[in-house]
Amino acid sequence: MVRVDPNEQWAGYPEEEHDMLSQESLQQIDREIAKYPSDQKQSAVMAALRIAQVEKGWLPKDVIGFVADYLDMPAIAAFEVASFYNMYDLKPVGRHKITVCTNLPCALSGGVHAADYLKQKLGIDFNETTADGKFTLKEGECMGACGDAPVLLHNNHKMCSWMTTEKIDQLLAGLEDK
Ligand code: FES
Repeated sequence: MVRVDPNEQWAGYPEEEHDMLSQESLQQIDREIAKYPSDQKQSAVMAALRIAQVEKGWLPKDVIGFVADYLDMPAIAAFEVASFYNMYDLKPVGRHKITVCTNLPCALSGGVHAADYLKQKLGIDFNETTADGKFTLKEGECMGACGDAPVLLHNNHKMCSWMTTEKIDQLLAGLEDK
């Protein structure tokens, strides 16, 4: 078994101080915790990280640590979850995060073209944010909507199907003032 040094895993992680979560977020997390046996609070970690990310916009190290404490689990275990799933953001993102599916069915049906078009329109590559902080572009895994390819996800929630260049133009124009 390979032992991973926790300090090595956190290496390069932005060091910033943040207020802890609001009462509203804590109440939402409490509702998630209540779905599991009382000695298995950590089963709510994915939901709790999602709730924390919605409040903070991304997942700072100290917020992950706070969530872990709240769930009685080691911070590094919560970080391992946050770093495994690509819907969690481990550094700040723009107001509009656009995740493009480039898995094979989408790639064969215009996904790569859609990604290239977005890169060119926004002037950024994957994992970059526009200078005005509006848009971040991410590469995503299959979203279970291969029949709608090419597919994009806006801010982890809104699925956008059959994204031709015209539809991408419409999407960006609609988000420009938001
Ligand atoms: S491959 Fe893109 S949604 Fe499945």
